[in-house]
Amino acid sequence: MRLVLFGGPGSGKGTQAAILTTLFGIPHISTGDILRAERAAATPLGQQAQSYMDRGELVPDQVIVEMVANRLQQPDTATGWLLDGFPRNGAQAAVFEEMLKNIHQDYDYLLFLDVPAAILQERILNRAKQATNGQQRSDDTPETILKRVQVYERETRPMIQRYMNHPKFVHIDGTRTIEEVTAAIQARIGEVNRV
Ligand code: AP5
Repeated sequence: MRLVLFGGPGSGKGTQAAILTTLFGIPHISTGDILRAERAAATPLGQQAQSYMDRGELVPDQVIVEMVANRLQQPDTATGWLLDGFPRNGAQAAVFEEMLKNIHQDYDYLLFLDVPAAILQERILNRAKQATNGQQRSDDTPETILKRVQVYERETRPMIQRYMNHPKFVHIDGTRTIEEVTAAIQARIGEVNRV
């Protein structure tokens, strides 16, 4: 199973990705998680990404594309994968399509978690409030959350126009409970290949 999950910051991508990757036995490839790991390890890539992430801006496409291309060549992706947070704008989407052609792969479903901006902000603010010391993300401040949502509306949400008539595009109402969202996804993608 190969899945692409996209939606705004706080739309539930990470939450649903954890459930779906367990269900299908596939690796969870989150560009945000990879960047945070690079930052924690103080690698050149992590240092380059840091200022963009802390401002709520997208990290430059070239950096992200190379990172995803490398990750999709790791042996654990042979059985499938779930991409969380990539592609995130039109340029990344175009390169992604080329990338897949080159490695003779395609995704089975592109899942869009649709959640209005006000709820996105509320969810991340709640996550920040509930975080214990050392667990809070440095980009979960009120100013950066607002910026991330604005960047999403400007760069990521318009990708719907590109994909809405694509047979593999699945629109999911992400405002429902976590369990209801998972059930809606499962209903759309079926239980084929379930491990
Ligand atoms: P990334 O790590 O991808 O973060 P994000 O998109 O801002 O999304 P979040 O991780 O905050 O939220 P989520 O959608 O995973 O929701 P979650 O499940 O956690 O990106 C971070 C940064 O990295 C970017 O700003 C950018 O700088 C850079 N970056 C990453 N990818 C990039 C790319 N491709 N190109 C360029 N730059 C890139 O849920 C949020 C909260 O809501 C949780 O508390 C959760 O419990 C709760 N929740 C989840 N589902 C529900 C529900 N159904 N009902 C109620 N609450 C719910």
